Amino acid sequence: MGRSLTQKIFAEHLIEGEMIAGKEVAIKIDQTLTQDATGTMAYLQFEAIGIPRVRTELSVSYVDHNTLQSGFENADDHRFLQTVAAKYGIYFSRPGNGICHQVHLERFAKPGKTLLGSDSHTPTAGGMAVIAIGAGGLDVAVAMGGGAFYTTMPKVVGIELKGKLQPWVSAKDIILEVLRILSVKGGVGKVIEYFGEGVKSLTVPERATITNMGAELGATTSIFPSDEETRAYLKSQGREEDWVSLNADADAVYDELLEIKLDELEPLSARPHSPDNVAKVRDIGPVPVQQVAIGSCTNSSYADLMIVAKMLKGRTVHPSVSLAIAPGSKQVYTMIAQNGALADLIDAGARILESACGPCIGMGQSPSSAANSVRTFNRNFEGRSGTQDASIYLTGPAVAAATAITGVLTDPRDLQMNYEEVVWPETFTVNDNMIISPPENGAGLEVLRGPNIKPLPVNEALPGEIKASVLLKVGDNITTDHIMPAGAKILPLRSNIPAISEYVFCTVDKCFPLRAKETGRGIIIGGSNYGQGSSREHAALAPMFLGVKAVLVKSFARIHRQNLVNFGILPLTFVDEKDYDGIDQEDLLLLSDTSAQMSAEHMLVRNLTKGTEFKVVHNLSERQKIIIKAGGLLNYTKNR
Ligand code: F3S
Repeated sequence: MGRSLTQKIFAEHLIEGEMIAGKEVAIKIDQTLTQDATGTMAYLQFEAIGIPRVRTELSVSYVDHNTLQSGFENADDHRFLQTVAAKYGIYFSRPGNGICHQVHLERFAKPGKTLLGSDSHTPTAGGMAVIAIGAGGLDVAVAMGGGAFYTTMPKVVGIELKGKLQPWVSAKDIILEVLRILSVKGGVGKVIEYFGEGVKSLTVPERATITNMGAELGATTSIFPSDEETRAYLKSQGREEDWVSLNADADAVYDELLEIKLDELEPLSARPHSPDNVAKVRDIGPVPVQQVAIGSCTNSSYADLMIVAKMLKGRTVHPSVSLAIAPGSKQVYTMIAQNGALADLIDAGARILESACGPCIGMGQSPSSAANSVRTFNRNFEGRSGTQDASIYLTGPAVAAATAITGVLTDPRDLQMNYEEVVWPETFTVNDNMIISPPENGAGLEVLRGPNIKPLPVNEALPGEIKASVLLKVGDNITTDHIMPAGAKILPLRSNIPAISEYVFCTVDKCFPLRAKETGRGIIIGGSNYGQGSSREHAALAPMFLGVKAVLVKSFARIHRQNLVNFGILPLTFVDEKDYDGIDQEDLLLLSDTSAQMSAEHMLVRNLTKGTEFKVVHNLSERQKIIIKAGGLLNYTKNR
């Protein structure tokens, strides 16, 4: 029976387990990446494991999230990251060098490798045939120490791409169409693997736009084959020797199959407030727009910015629109400066930002109150932009540029412009002077820690019984942004858990941290897809610090569930979802004899306030049970 590309790469890296969908497997990790918002914690955890040098083929520490320096905190964290990288054998990508996923694709990703990153959009590298998985910082720390990565063997969804995109339709429209069909829950427990003749017409950065937003499907990762197009991209980066040809077998069997006819796609947009709320731009109509933001790890490549520059050349941004553009990397920035496109963007009235995540993570450029903002980004959750009542529309770069010109959401086909294909340069401008290689031996080097780097809190072992009140009851699709918001005020506290925990659930219920501290121990009740979105482990670590012992929901998003396990918080799901309705905030729940109950098929929870009883399951592997009992992965790893 033929194998998918996913199965081939998993098989090559398999350390433990059977490759049966739904079963736990352990795979060897070749490369890791971190970004600064999750990286400081990951390196503190790596230090706590106590290994003198990373054991991966390659590890890179990027600084792209918190590049604002209005206080000492971010600058101190950057210095910590630079010195810790040098000491332990990690490449350091300096602030200003670009967004981790864009730079990793350009300079480090290699077909056939495995990559674990402490960022949910790590699957971007799947555009280059990498099994690239987003995880919590602690998982990445363990992988840097040479430990395997444990995950549930995913199902493989094959998506056959047929035909070719029409002018003005982009790779973003392909992934928005997949999101429209499958929804934000449709990829959970699955790898999305693309194949078919339509693949050939997509460049590596276009493929990476698609795999990037596979994260919004909840997928473990997404992957494209490695073909002549991949080879050409690597050659243009001066890395042709990294290329290998990789494909699924012609008779590969997929768990599910889907077909997308590229010729039939039109410019699409994800409307507020979910990436799967997708419709044709023409059907949405001319929504007045106050801001357009172009960039992010989804759409900030050379070709993305060139199409925008071509459309804006000789035109002026509409007076009601603020247009912000962040090139994805120093390489992209340099190239558009060298060929004059940057001048066209500036001349049209664009506000050019540094190569970083910027507005995507609420670091500046928040829209005005109740504004509509059109963004080429990947997430449009309520409040993520930094303006609680703003409405975000996600589109490709051409729709964003057309909208910047007209001031209303616009299908670029309605502008009657000539469509000019972006011509790819044969070679890209390569200058890695913002990537600092680690010395051969970092043993004698000092790690510099400013006052913002606080010691790592560690959980206690799982108590014999959990008798605790419901601290909060929330509904469906709660994101990690709801649990642990980001933004310019909160993110600088990422290395200071006591301080950052004051903001847990602050946009949902301001009193949560105080209530948690007063009770000392608590349980959270949630609906479906709890913890979707960013991989930030602070959404588990800060609640752990506040005494949360269990999270009981209808279903979890993958990375967040793993983060809960990593920090020793029991992740439970209802056997009968109707039991969710029978629980109120402040109810006192009892989970007795936790250790013995964890071995049973299901666990019993008593609602002492209501006098009722209901069943829950944990779906933990034997290894995860030991981790939970130890109080988390750090204790477990140290015990070993
Ligand atoms: Fe950065 Fe936004 Fe991507 S925060 S890594 S650009 S999702």
